Amino acid sequence: MTQAPGKKRGSLITLEGIEGAGKSTVARWVCDWLGRHGIRATLTREPGGTALAERVRQIVLERGEEQLSAATETLLMFAARGIHVENLIRPALDRGDWVVCDRFTDATRAYQGGGRGVDPALIESLASQVHGGLQPDCTLLLDLPVPVGLERARSRQAGALDRFESEAQAFFERVRAAYLALAGREPGRIHVIDASRPLEAVARQVEAVLERLPIPGGAVRVR
Ligand SMILES: Nc1ncnc2c1ncn2[C@@H]1O[C@H](COP(=O)(O)OP(=O)(O)OP(=O)(O)O)[C@@H](O)[C@H]1O
Ligand SMILES: [Mg+2]
Repeated sequence: MTQAPGKKRGSLITLEGIEGAGKSTVARWVCDWLGRHGIRATLTREPGGTALAERVRQIVLERGEEQLSAATETLLMFAARGIHVENLIRPALDRGDWVVCDRFTDATRAYQGGGRGVDPALIESLASQVHGGLQPDCTLLLDLPVPVGLERARSRQAGALDRFESEAQAFFERVRAAYLALAGREPGRIHVIDASRPLEAVARQVEAVLERLPIPGGAVRVR
């Protein structure tokens, strides 16, 4: 990540995975864990995270009468991300806070790229224009079989499904495969967590990753 010399900055941790993988649950757990280790962390999510970006979220998730092409959906995701990065993520990191973000650009790579077939070159070009130089320091990919995730998501929610939740299983199989391919390409950043296990077992796997991060004022702890 680009950084002015000597500038104090926090780390960006992102949570990824298909619907119902446990991202929001684990994101809260990560913030609590960081708090217990003396690190102030801001919890946020994508698409959204600021008042204006949440309005873009609404546009992109709601199942209205009008069609959104895969390219338009991608542009909206990056519009929301640009607002979020400029107004919340970068200022927090520059203050030295840590940021825990429920989905980030890997979600666009997996959903719009893997799921919808958008050209990866378009996604990478937008990523570099919108947040060039800003990469997550650590990504937790919560991986589990698609039917298990969908069952968790659907049993949690009453009411109408959003534009993604209403997709067929085959769509999420492509998304899951794309996430795993990303993890295979960037094993140092993207940590695959077996999210099919009970929450305590998921937390133990996540803790093993967090313990390797550079905690301010302390040495990197290596088990
Ligand atoms: N490891 C787990 N074992 C069993 N249930 C879990 C586990 N992790 C999360 N859950 C439950 O599954 C449901 C979905 O979890 P959560 O909302 O955290 O998923 P999510 O990945 O954020 O989903 P979405 O993509 O829809 O936002 C919740 O009811 C949560 O309590
Ligand atoms: Mg969630």
